[in-house]
Amino acid sequence: MQESNITRVSDQLRKPENWTEPPEPLPGSCPSCNGVIHPQFIEPVFWSGRPAFGTGRWAFPSLCSACETEKKVEAQKAKAEQEAKERSRKIQQLTATAGFSKAHEHMTLETFDPLFCIEAFARIQKGWEAGENIFIAGPPGTGKTHIAVGLLKLFIGQKAERGVFRIVPELMIELRRAIKDRRDDELLDEISSAQALVLDDLGVERPTPMVLEGLYLLIDRWYRNKKSHLVITSNNDIEQLSKHLEDRLASRIIGMCRPFKLQGEDRRLEASRA
Ligand SMILES: Nc1ncnc2c1ncn2[C@@H]1O[C@H](COP(=O)(O)OP(=O)(O)O)[C@@H](O)[C@H]1O
Ligand SMILES: [Mg+2]
Ligand SMILES: [Zn+2]
Repeated sequence: MQESNITRVSDQLRKPENWTEPPEPLPGSCPSCNGVIHPQFIEPVFWSGRPAFGTGRWAFPSLCSACETEKKVEAQKAKAEQEAKERSRKIQQLTATAGFSKAHEHMTLETFDPLFCIEAFARIQKGWEAGENIFIAGPPGTGKTHIAVGLLKLFIGQKAERGVFRIVPELMIELRRAIKDRRDDELLDEISSAQALVLDDLGVERPTPMVLEGLYLLIDRWYRNKKSHLVITSNNDIEQLSKHLEDRLASRIIGMCRPFKLQGEDRRLEASRA
């Protein structure tokens, strides 16, 4: 029963002996360039002795092959342009919402003059591109914030991923408010879910234990998720921090960040003198 069904199907599909290919029509002309369009034969699929599905005939492509290729190239170009536009819009939006202020506008790695720290600056950039976490210490005005902002802008520009910039004392205030409103979990989630983070101006002053706990949770979460691309800057070096801050907080930072020290004149004073 089954076999005879199969035989019948293959009978139906067989090319009839008297079937001949229709003659090739004369070439047509391309509606776009008036060039020659050659007809293409659509190989027949037979059913019940006749070609089915519109096959077994000659058809004209809508454009000549040169115009067809040009159309494809243009479509690809338009798609690439569209994607580039969307990416740059995304980068702009990520930069606008990272937490930078007007004071950070001019800060990029290109506008940083590494005169007093050529070697450290090169190693910081290399480490950052390799995904390291970085601790930058140094006296005021030596460019810690400038470098940190530059690194984060580079990250956002290259990866089009979310980066967060926070000045630690301001983050403490934000955190205090969030704790009061019972939104501290939400705030910590929002920050720790970023792909890169700058904590600028970590000081030795002790805020309330609750706020300190929040800061510890944030850094600990970054540490436990083995996240990379964290920058912490401070006027205090890592030894001073470990003396003054909670042990567990300092040891987390020491354990996860590569330390650098900037030296030089206070650029703010220099600028005001000039
Ligand atoms: N090496 C540098 N090249 C260019 N500008 C610098 C450099 N160092 C500091 N500045 C500028 O001096 C000002 C203070 O630098 P900042 O990064 O805020 O210092 P810090 O965070 O170390 O206190 C900023 O306007 C910054 O752009
Ligand atoms: Mg600073
Ligand atoms: Zn054409």
